[in-house]
Amino acid sequence: MKKIGLIGTGMLGKAVGMHLLKSGYSLVAYNRTKDKTKELEINGAEIADSPKDVALKSDVVITVVKDAEAVKKISFEKDGIIFGNHEGLVVCDMSTINPIESKKIFEKFRENNLIMLDTPVMGGPNVAITGDLVMMASGNKGTFDDCKKLFETIANKVFYLGENGTAHTVKLAMNLQITMLALALSEGITLSRGANIDPKVFLEILNSTYFKTGMSENKAFKMIQDQFDATFTLDNLKKDINTISETSKSFGVNLPMTEKAKEIYDNAVNEGFGNLDYTGILAYIKKLNE
Ligand SMILES: NC(=O)c1ccc[n+]([C@@H]2O[C@H](COP(=O)([O-])OP(=O)(O)OC[C@H]3O[C@@H](n4cnc5c(N)ncnc54)[C@H](OP(=O)(O)O)[C@@H]3O)[C@@H](O)[C@H]2O)c1
Repeated sequence: MKKIGLIGTGMLGKAVGMHLLKSGYSLVAYNRTKDKTKELEINGAEIADSPKDVALKSDVVITVVKDAEAVKKISFEKDGIIFGNHEGLVVCDMSTINPIESKKIFEKFRENNLIMLDTPVMGGPNVAITGDLVMMASGNKGTFDDCKKLFETIANKVFYLGENGTAHTVKLAMNLQITMLALALSEGITLSRGANIDPKVFLEILNSTYFKTGMSENKAFKMIQDQFDATFTLDNLKKDINTISETSKSFGVNLPMTEKAKEIYDNAVNEGFGNLDYTGILAYIKKLNE
């Protein structure tokens, strides 16, 4: 079995790491804020002092950090991954980032004789913990094949999508769905409440139709109870909407709903809702209606 390095033990990274340990992989982990590696350490992970140290001790390094800037920092800056390069090392970036930035990162790794695959995922910590994410992968096919067993441990569905950058573009199209679904549910709930209709009735009817989703069948029932404990923060979704907007512009594509959603989520973060779960956009819309 390959020795796995994990850089970024936030909500998603920690759950992926816990599942890898449970699946018998040996894991070396690093996080900028050290406290967040405690649970992994208790469960058998080795904790490294730097991304360089992780790279030196691993065959495959998985990076799960906030954005492209963070990926660059852990990869190329002082004590970054490239300084721990060795024969056969592969980097798999699971962060959700701009595909154009990702291609630049891939090129910089290539200049340093390192192979990087894009491996963004759908699904949060609650499914990562059982290896039930959905993975979109792009980059060198031979390297992908070589890592496939690892990927199939992390995810129950793995899609290979071709050249570097592609997986991130598809991932952004996925997060566009999350953005609009959370907004549509929030406005449906708010409209029902405005007419003194129990939002549970709205959800039960929605869930009896073709238009139901995992979100309307699960998270929505927490939303109507004002339960917004984060599995994926509103702040991180806002980061992704900004990325979708930037990416669409660089592809010359006009996404009018994305631009409107960007404004709404930006305002929600500015009003202090960023640390809630992304479904906390309902709480922001509730505030607008007070
Ligand atoms: N949660 C989900 O459901 C989910 C699903 C799919 C994809 N994702 C993506 O996965 C990535 C991580 O998400 P998450 O939910 O785990 O977020 P999170 O809990 O906010 O964790 C963010 C991670 O990034 C690190 N980080 C941020 N800025 C950094 C920097 N400048 N240098 C080094 N490390 C930095 C953080 O380190 P500190 O602890 O030191 O702040 C932390 O480890 C994001 O790109 C997100 O969009 C998340």
